Amino acid sequence: MTDYLRLGVNIDHVATIRNARGGIHPDPMTAAKIATQAGADGITAHLREDRRHINDDDIAKLSADIDLPLNFEMAVTDEMGIIAMRHKPNACCLVPEKREEVTTEGGLNVAGNGNRINDFSRMLQQDGMRISLFIDPDENQIEASAKTGADIIELHVGPYSHACLAGNQQQIAVELARLRNGAEQATALGLEVHAGHGLDYDNVSAIAAIPQIVELNIGHFLIGEAIFVGLEASIKKMRNLMDKARPKTH
Ligand code: PXP
Repeated sequence: MTDYLRLGVNIDHVATIRNARGGIHPDPMTAAKIATQAGADGITAHLREDRRHINDDDIAKLSADIDLPLNFEMAVTDEMGIIAMRHKPNACCLVPEKREEVTTEGGLNVAGNGNRINDFSRMLQQDGMRISLFIDPDENQIEASAKTGADIIELHVGPYSHACLAGNQQQIAVELARLRNGAEQATALGLEVHAGHGLDYDNVSAIAAIPQIVELNIGHFLIGEAIFVGLEASIKKMRNLMDKARPKTH
């Protein structure tokens, strides 16, 4: 349990805008530098199979030139394993990936793919990378994650975020209870707990208040808000909301 909640800024959607015109602007590297100045604790980037936003060159530059820890979101494929081994980010967050989905829609099925995830994780861990598994706050998935020897689970808060958008109070309460229980269970099993997906200014506080969670990874909202107020301001406001919501343990 920690008073300080880390903020990982996901810069994928800076690359989404750049790629809309196929040029070099806006540059995700500039975003990572501004995020660093604004108080981010880490940079997160997802290299998708179809390279729809972040590309291989971005990963190479982020690994070489950014001082903050890099959290490399990736599918469990041989190709991504080779890229991770090449750049050795601080952490690899393993996510499920289907080519047609708009974003990561569900958690990784660790319970159904334990052996593959286990072998894949071990290969990267032996090379010094921490392994995070992006999973739903489901008892079986958390238990299976602990068995793989992963260092971290990132709890998928997407269903909570959707319930917030819909203003469905009953569903919000259900999803929050699942997340709180999941965070407790994972910590008891020795896993570090992160969370992310769909977080914004309105819904972040309840998640930031879960004391076992040590890191939030937030992207789409921060980059979208940056269009109106600038990236530094959008990150600083999020940082502020996270700090305010965090329970003090002393
Ligand atoms: N964590 C994971 C594992 C993700 O796949 C994503 C989306 O790329 C995020 C966090 C960030 O989600 P959002 O962009 O909705 O803030």
